[in-house]
Amino acid sequence: MRIDILTLFPGMFSGPLTESILKRAQEKGLLSLHLHNIRDYTSDKHHTTDDAPYGGGGGMVMLVEPLVRAVEDVRGADQGAPVILLTPQGRVFTQRVAYELAAHERLILICGRYEGVDERVRQLVVTDEISIGDYVLTGGELAAMVIVDAVTRLIPGVLGARWGAEEDSHAMGLLEYPHYTRPPVFRGLAVPDVLLSGDHQAVARWRRREAIRRTWERRPDLLLTADLSEEERWFLAELAEAEAQRRGAS
Ligand code: ADE
Repeated sequence: MRIDILTLFPGMFSGPLTESILKRAQEKGLLSLHLHNIRDYTSDKHHTTDDAPYGGGGGMVMLVEPLVRAVEDVRGADQGAPVILLTPQGRVFTQRVAYELAAHERLILICGRYEGVDERVRQLVVTDEISIGDYVLTGGELAAMVIVDAVTRLIPGVLGARWGAEEDSHAMGLLEYPHYTRPPVFRGLAVPDVLLSGDHQAVARWRRREAIRRTWERRPDLLLTADLSEEERWFLAELAEAEAQRRGAS
């Protein structure tokens, strides 16, 4: 996959994208990242990238011309790649959106700054707008890094065969089950017996139930759309009943 990032601050990307899994994905040729400085697409002596808003008010607005020129130059003849503006006004990024983006061969990400970008950038070149959550960052750079990270680990071959993304929190529509490794007992806290039993079916059943329990406790909203078997729905009903009894008793 190829990802082009248009930003005023390419230096912000050097740490997160050049370590660990993202680094290896690039070394293996599975991810090709290209940073483009929007300032390089200005046409005036001062390399201006923003100006005061028409109509007054505070803040600065990113100019339409450098952004449109940058997108057109980077995109070249490849009209098919989504051009995604990172903005708190966009649709909210979720694991489902990560899968959707991972299906593309190429993405172009625009990092907005200041109070926003001139509306005509949206009209002329943007095909999608994404927010990474309901809060306001100083710019789209961190959001772009979050998206690159979440999408890259879904590219086949990036995580390796033994550590797939299929059982991630959210991939199954549930949060993940609890994990344990050595030692079997630490400060009196023991690893659940079933995980040491060698019974793979029992382990799988325990994990699935614990994933449901954890989702019920922390993110019950996810259970509305989770794919549960009849038996798992009964388990959920038991959890709900136990909770109701606890509340009634207190
Ligand atoms: N730019 C500023 N805040 C943002 C957010 N929450 N998501 C994406 N881009 C942003």
